[in-house]
Amino acid sequence: MTPDRRKPLEATVAALRDALGADAVRVGDAIGERSMTDWTRHAPTRPAALLLPRSTEDVARALAICHDAYQPVVPQGGMTGLAGGAIPAATDIALALDRFAGVEELDTAAATLTVRAGTTLQVAQEAAIAAGFELALDLGARGSCQIGGNLATNAGGNRVIQSGTARDQVLGLEVVLANGAVLSSLGKMVKNNTGYDLKHWFIGSEGTLGVITRAVLRLHPQRAARHTALVALDGYDAAVALLRRLTQRFGNDIAAFEIMWPDFYDFGVTLTASGRSPFAAAHPLYALIEHAGFDADDAGERFSTALTDALETQTIRDAVIAQSVADARALWAIRECTAEFPVRLDPINFDVSVPIGEIGGFVDRCRAALDRRWPGNVTYFFGHIGDSNLHLTVDGRSVPGVAHDDVYAFVYDMLAPLHGSVSAEHGIGLLKRAYLPVSRSREELAAMAAIKHALDPHGILNPGKVL
Ligand code: FAD
Ligand code: LAC
Ligand code: ZN
Repeated sequence: MTPDRRKPLEATVAALRDALGADAVRVGDAIGERSMTDWTRHAPTRPAALLLPRSTEDVARALAICHDAYQPVVPQGGMTGLAGGAIPAATDIALALDRFAGVEELDTAAATLTVRAGTTLQVAQEAAIAAGFELALDLGARGSCQIGGNLATNAGGNRVIQSGTARDQVLGLEVVLANGAVLSSLGKMVKNNTGYDLKHWFIGSEGTLGVITRAVLRLHPQRAARHTALVALDGYDAAVALLRRLTQRFGNDIAAFEIMWPDFYDFGVTLTASGRSPFAAAHPLYALIEHAGFDADDAGERFSTALTDALETQTIRDAVIAQSVADARALWAIRECTAEFPVRLDPINFDVSVPIGEIGGFVDRCRAALDRRWPGNVTYFFGHIGDSNLHLTVDGRSVPGVAHDDVYAFVYDMLAPLHGSVSAEHGIGLLKRAYLPVSRSREELAAMAAIKHALDPHGILNPGKVL
């Protein structure tokens, strides 16, 4: 960004009103709290203006104006991000896709869903289900997060072990570049080797390279036979053994393998409707497992036989298998208590990646080190362990007076020797920017900066985020 070249805000806002219509440009108190921060609740800030475009053309006109004015723009989706990527600075203009929402087409022959970026994940999921398909992407924020935000963060979620991340669901993408040029590549083909696959530069780029406006998403055949189990385990090695055993038996019918350490599990249970654990005893570790197959006749039986076998060989200590959709939801509610973190805790969130075989040891070392450094800290360990993705959340209230950055630095220092990733799924955004070099070399960072400069020479798109 070159601040001295920035045109006066009033002139830019006036040009945006002319181009988009007065009702698509809000300023001052007309901008609600939702536009000020994401799910982290970090540093709420009212942006200088909020744009609510209704079409790709509106986005293109808006960005062309902001590019000419050297005016920073922060793309915003459902504001459920956990890296601060959508948090504006007071001099930024926020651009929210809320009004550009809805499913445009469901092609049953190609098995694709064409959606506008402002569509919530849940609306897209329901459209797929209604047509006998399913969307592989699923995460706790499904009711609020938007497809644009999911792709901009390359969201992971609960089914990565089965079908990959958000990136793997994308066949076509439409993006508006910083200067207003529209890259529309909404093809439905699975194969397309015509030069660089540009869509992948924007997926996971957290709004720093372009504004995603539409996507063609891959649909999967509906796995009607879904079975959910909560399993109690002796420890981490048993969890990995169980995962391998189940995937050897069921391949990628294992849709989710979520691990909860006792602190997290106990906290999650207290937030459920019953407030009680389905197990009579406490256990060292818990796994929430979803089996999703096609054959409704015997899938449930085969899954429960596998768990019974695991019980008999003492790979697991106990298991509860959901008998209804309501039961399954109740089990998932324990795992999805993370939605409550911002209101119940002062969360310092981590979403690290460590090779799966090393996660158990990392958790033990990390817990011991945190206890030595900050006795009395309350930390919750959990995660999408099937994807080698560990989450830990330190409750800032349990380490009074300690800066969040000190906690970040402490944990990332422990991660570096393992060559782990500081972000498995939430992205870098604002909060992890200082720690990107833990996971990326100088050469990689230079290549990223070169791409950023090529696509956004005036540095207007989400400045201060990621790089
Ligand atoms: P926002 O928060 O609005 O924005 C996120 C980033 O994307 C910002 O950098 C923003 O600038 C950019 N952006 C948004 N829209 C666009 C667009 N159209 N074009 C370009 N850039 C854009 N994440 C996971 O990966 N896995 C999980 O399991 C998971 N579980 C969660 C559970 C809960 C309860 C919550 C609250 C969050 C969870 N998240 C998870 C984090 C979050 O939901 C995801 O990162 C989600 O993809 C963000 O989508 P959003 O629409 O809310 O994006
Ligand atoms: C989850 C969020 C924190 O997995 O990514 O619940
Ligand atoms: Zn997660």
